[in-house]
Amino acid sequence: MRIDILTLFPEFFASPLKQSILRRAQEQGAVSFRVIDLRDFTTDRHRTADDRPYGGGPGMVMKLEPLVAAIRAVRAEDEAVRVILLTPAGGLLTQKKVQDLAGRGHLLLICGHYEGVDDRLSHYVDEELSIGDYVLTGGEPAALVVADAVVRLLPAVLGCEGSAAEDSFQTGLLDHPHYTRPRVFEGHAVPEVLLSGDHAAVARWRRQEAIKRTLRRRPELLSRAALSPADREFLARLTEISEQQDG
Ligand SMILES: C[S@@+](CC[C@H](N)C(=O)[O-])C[C@H]1O[C@@H](n2cnc3c(N)ncnc32)[C@H](O)[C@@H]1O
Repeated sequence: MRIDILTLFPEFFASPLKQSILRRAQEQGAVSFRVIDLRDFTTDRHRTADDRPYGGGPGMVMKLEPLVAAIRAVRAEDEAVRVILLTPAGGLLTQKKVQDLAGRGHLLLICGHYEGVDDRLSHYVDEELSIGDYVLTGGEPAALVVADAVVRLLPAVLGCEGSAAEDSFQTGLLDHPHYTRPRVFEGHAVPEVLLSGDHAAVARWRRQEAIKRTLRRRPELLSRAALSPADREFLARLTEISEQQDG
């Protein structure tokens, strides 16, 4: 896979792309990154990429010309590239969307700054994505969030660092709790079943803990989760117990 990032601040990516999974994925050849300096697509002496807003008001707006020129240059190399603008006004990034993006061969992530980009850029991008209901200073951290979430889903990238298949949201549920040594820490013990060596009991316990945790913390996820008849029975029991406790 190839991920291009269009930004006014290319240096922002220097360290993060060299760490952990993102570095390893590049070394394995699973992904290649290219950070594109938007100012390389400006045409004036001052390399101007922003201007004052029509209608007045504070802040600057990112100009269309360099953005569109950069998009066209990338599309000329690969017309199948998926062009994504990062903006708080975009569709919310979910694990389902991350899976969809991981299945594409080439992404171009566009980072806004200042008050954002000239709204007419919507005619030139394939989609607009938000990483959450809060406002960042620029799209750079959002592009990293997208890149990290996507790359860890690429085949063989996680290796021994874990399995994406059981991550939170991947199954429609939050992940089950994890523990490592010591067995007891300041009076807090690891659940006995995890020490039992009974793989079926461990798998059952993990599934049930994931359901319990989702019910307590993110109950709205349960309506969309893929639940087996045994899961549903367990959930019904949990709900019954919690109703008895409330009543
Ligand atoms: C200061 S923000 C612009 C905020 C804009 N005036 C608003 O209120 O929606 C500058 C840039 O940061 C990025 N950004 C900020 N919050 C974001 C979010 N939640 N998701 C994705 N990108 C975001 C976008 O690229 C945006 O153009």
